Amino acid sequence: MANLEEIAPRGSRGYSLLQAIDFDRLPQHIAVIMDGNGRWAAARRLPRVAGHRAGIASVKEVVETSARLGIRVLTLYAFSVENWKRPKSEISTLMSLLKEYLQKELSSIIKNNIRFCTIGRVNDLAPDIQQSLQKAIAETSQNNGMIMNIALNYGGRAELVDAFQSIMRQVAQNGHRDTVITEQLISDHLYTSGLDDPDLLIRTSGEMRISNFLLWQIAYAEIWMTPVYWPDFRREHLLQAIVDYQKRDRRYGGL
Ligand code: IPE
Ligand code: IPE
Ligand code: MG
Repeated sequence: MANLEEIAPRGSRGYSLLQAIDFDRLPQHIAVIMDGNGRWAAARRLPRVAGHRAGIASVKEVVETSARLGIRVLTLYAFSVENWKRPKSEISTLMSLLKEYLQKELSSIIKNNIRFCTIGRVNDLAPDIQQSLQKAIAETSQNNGMIMNIALNYGGRAELVDAFQSIMRQVAQNGHRDTVITEQLISDHLYTSGLDDPDLLIRTSGEMRISNFLLWQIAYAEIWMTPVYWPDFRREHLLQAIVDYQKRDRRYGGL
């Protein structure tokens, strides 16, 4: 079991939430739609990018807290295939912030034994961004703690398209005319191949939608939504989500 005082100071709200958590029944995989940066900034009469910058503190806190709790996989939705519709200047700031985050945080990611991974059409990102991602992946590849999985240029439908393309290539190469399509085969060709499906999906900012995130994998995820904007999302919110998750009755269609 985790050392509670390493996660939240004794006597804090975080600490009492920790005491309510059953560490034998933690969600193994938590996925987060980090939303509301722009509205957080607008509420403060700041430019949208100030919200993205402020959101980095939330990323750090959620990554660190999840790793200390013993969560196996944390998947963070950082940039969708649809986000290219935004103004060029906002997109380039988001990409620079990602690079800056990796430069500043890689040492602490390594220290926390976290393995860094990405999902999405990362090959379509700028070469310098791909380079910083590759560096983080390579330098953490031997870590066996939490997997921190960043969804970049990610779309759930794009992922399914890529999975079917990959299955078709395999069939063509191996001459497997009798390949049988099964759920396992499809799962094995997704970007998340080898990872368990998310148990808990968190969305911030009050929006009640999935926005093309992990469409296949969230079939039976427990969904937890909060009106809190991402830059205001703190350790206590994550712990509250886990406490609430543990009160749910996951029936998977049974009784
Ligand atoms: C989430 O915040 C970050 C990304 C989608 C990149 P938004 O930028 O979507 O903020 P809102 O939803 O406009 O407030
Ligand atoms: C979802 O947020 C994508 C990410 C968090 C990266 P959006 O802000 O893009 O989603 P919509 O437009 O509100 O559905
Ligand atoms: Mg948004």
